Amino acid sequence: MFWIMVAVKTKSVWFCKECGNESPKWMGRCPACGEWNTMVEETVATGRKAVAQAVNVPGASCRPMPLADIDSSHEQRISLNNSEMDRILGGGLVEGSLVLIGGEPGIGKSTLSLQIPLHCPSLKTLYVTGEESAKQVKLRAARIGGDDAGCLIYSETLMENIIKEAREIRPDLMVVDSVQTMYSQNVESSPGSVTQIKETAALLLRFAKDTGVPVILIGHITKEGSIAGPKILEHIVDVVLQFEGDNRGTYRLLRSIKNRFGSTSELAVFEMTGKGLREVSNPSEMLIPMHEEGLSGVAVSAMLDGTRPFLIEVQSLVSSAAYGTPQRSATGFDVRRLNMLLAVLEKRAGFKLGVKDVFLNMAGGLKVSDPACDLAVISAVLSSNFDFPIPSDVCFAGEVGLSGEIRPVAQTDRRVIEAARLGFRKIFVSSYSSLEGVGQQTLGTIEVIKVSDVPALCRSLFRGQ
Ligand code: TYD
Ligand code: MG
Repeated sequence: MFWIMVAVKTKSVWFCKECGNESPKWMGRCPACGEWNTMVEETVATGRKAVAQAVNVPGASCRPMPLADIDSSHEQRISLNNSEMDRILGGGLVEGSLVLIGGEPGIGKSTLSLQIPLHCPSLKTLYVTGEESAKQVKLRAARIGGDDAGCLIYSETLMENIIKEAREIRPDLMVVDSVQTMYSQNVESSPGSVTQIKETAALLLRFAKDTGVPVILIGHITKEGSIAGPKILEHIVDVVLQFEGDNRGTYRLLRSIKNRFGSTSELAVFEMTGKGLREVSNPSEMLIPMHEEGLSGVAVSAMLDGTRPFLIEVQSLVSSAAYGTPQRSATGFDVRRLNMLLAVLEKRAGFKLGVKDVFLNMAGGLKVSDPACDLAVISAVLSSNFDFPIPSDVCFAGEVGLSGEIRPVAQTDRRVIEAARLGFRKIFVSSYSSLEGVGQQTLGTIEVIKVSDVPALCRSLFRGQ
């Protein structure tokens, strides 16, 4: 049960833009999250006459009851006719759920949320747009293609009107683009303010739980990468999905940050095409080499993002520093970690890289944080340094420690299986890795080479050179 306050009088308060903390006066630093200069003044409704309204979750009882007696079989999931979306939601959209999709401008939030109803003509959808005119939505729909018979477009920003229409229409799915453009008469501040965002989300939550209609809510992201508006928005909704990727590149990653009905380690991959977003069911395809054999400075890493194993190409270029201070630059990889790996190569294996420029790039515009990429990074660096190409059927999965040891990484067996499935013939892993989950059949197609430290890796990789 949810309680929502409907209030009468108003007063001025200060809110923190970062965490939603409320304060009766301005402060330079938010006492809750410690951020500087984030307090904004807003007018909020208050007063003694405030009335609490109950919101019933469908199927929920108002009395305490034993867990065993609660019937969960009524949880209906709606398939969105899009395998990547269904998977990231944990098997489809749950009735009455409120899903927040966040991302930077131009990344494809509106495209994805319009594509869903166009590819599911059997779903009656109410698409509320506060950012674009109905005509603009029509033009986008023409680009995407599909069947628009079941899709109603409503260009409105006043929440009371939207909820009223939605209650009459009773759609199977509702999309609201975006939370920052909507406003409610209950609150006096302007659209996009902390209180309006909270109120909009609360009204939509009440509507979703009352009627069982799933709602997809779109939210913008601040330049720090969090969903604009307070963290409280993330607490209110059931599912938070976040778009990542480079706007200029064609690949987009949709990551599940919170999911009350499934796992949060899911990742969906899409490709932006001229006709909307295409599902990429095998992401390794796009991330592994598409060049001829014999190029130095390239190594493939068997990485894991969430629970999903995929292979990614790591590219490196090592050249003599033209100017005094050598440059170190990394795209998609932490440059401090690159510096650490270079120091390990210098100190523990005797490679003189201190006078070299080192550039590193992860394929596909992906940001990688999996430590298992270390082994591929040092292999790519050494390959470029000696101008010795690594065969294209070799891949790597291991973490490099400060003393030059190769440490095992989580779920090595799944990485080996994925590498074998994609036709790799050799994989370098730590000597301490467990390969329990790898079947004999897989081991027949891929050779697992165990290495204990960086010198052992070099001996094994550059044997005969
Ligand atoms: P959009 O979905 O409007 O992004 P957001 O709502 O997150 O701000 O726009 C996505 C970008 O993708 C936009 O720059 C145009 C481009 N695009 C395509 O390349 N192909 C398409 O079929 C569509 C509809 C958009
Ligand atoms: Mg948009």
